[in-house]
Amino acid sequence: MIVINKVNELEKAVDALKHEGKSIGLVPTMGALHEGHLSLVERCRKENDVVVVSVFVNPTQFNNKEDLRTYPRTEEADKKLLQCAGCDIVFMPTVEEIYPEPDNRIFNLGRVAEVMEGAMRPGHFNGVAQIVSKLFMMVKPDRAYFGEKDFQQIAVIRQMVKTEGFNLQIVPCPIVREADGLAKSSRNVRLSGEARNAAPRIYRTLHESIEFAKSHTVDETIKFVTDTINSQQPLMEVEYYQIVDGLSMMPVSSWDESNYIVGCITVYCGGVRLIDNIAYKK
Ligand code: PAJ
Repeated sequence: MIVINKVNELEKAVDALKHEGKSIGLVPTMGALHEGHLSLVERCRKENDVVVVSVFVNPTQFNNKEDLRTYPRTEEADKKLLQCAGCDIVFMPTVEEIYPEPDNRIFNLGRVAEVMEGAMRPGHFNGVAQIVSKLFMMVKPDRAYFGEKDFQQIAVIRQMVKTEGFNLQIVPCPIVREADGLAKSSRNVRLSGEARNAAPRIYRTLHESIEFAKSHTVDETIKFVTDTINSQQPLMEVEYYQIVDGLSMMPVSSWDESNYIVGCITVYCGGVRLIDNIAYKK
């Protein structure tokens, strides 16, 4: 495994590999790696000749300065995990290397980027599009791997790929969870003991709602999930729960409106913002 910090060295390395006819897979991350990230690397390993993983805490996608400042950074541990996972190239640039000048590009991401996370975190998805488009231009991957944990992010990236005309495959990968159901996240380390004990209720409730939904409407299911989690107030507070079409991210009002329906939730748990989702129809 080689570690590269410079854009021109990365481009040189991947160009040489592409010239040899090797297929290239890319896994973009912000580091503080856990088994969720590693599941993407494993999938990428199986499907490509070369595995490139980027580790970069992208400032332009943080709409909260404190969140950026306190984002966990564990570079040495990340390198060891990536080595074991069969990564070929780790790209770990500085902020100046990626943004020698401010990136003023505004992406036309359409409605998929306006709802849910897009509404709660203004500018977030434009920042994601900025970094991911730069990575796509540098690495020119055949395939790029993203986790369904950030469900809306996948829809936004698909839209960006379409409008920017990238020729690559986006591969969505299932959510990896702790044994108690909590979706693995780099931010879980911020949970206090009490919040960590309460957090599995999010997935448990989503899971229970699958059965509930069989005999109730979409609106009743939203209320069931929201009320069940909010019964733990003030420790837990639902920011939003929306049941949407899995491709367009538009809310559905009945179960037969689409054959791909997903519930997306954000919960403040002891002050830490956690996201999760579950498919009702797939
Ligand atoms: P980050 O939060 O580090 O996540 C990197 C990738 O890992 C994302 O595609 C995310 O969905 C996936 N991932 C995280 N936790 C997961 C889990 N429990 N199960 C499965 N996949 C999981 O998402 C980002 O970084 C950034 O926005 C990025 C795309 C790198 C752009 O900066």
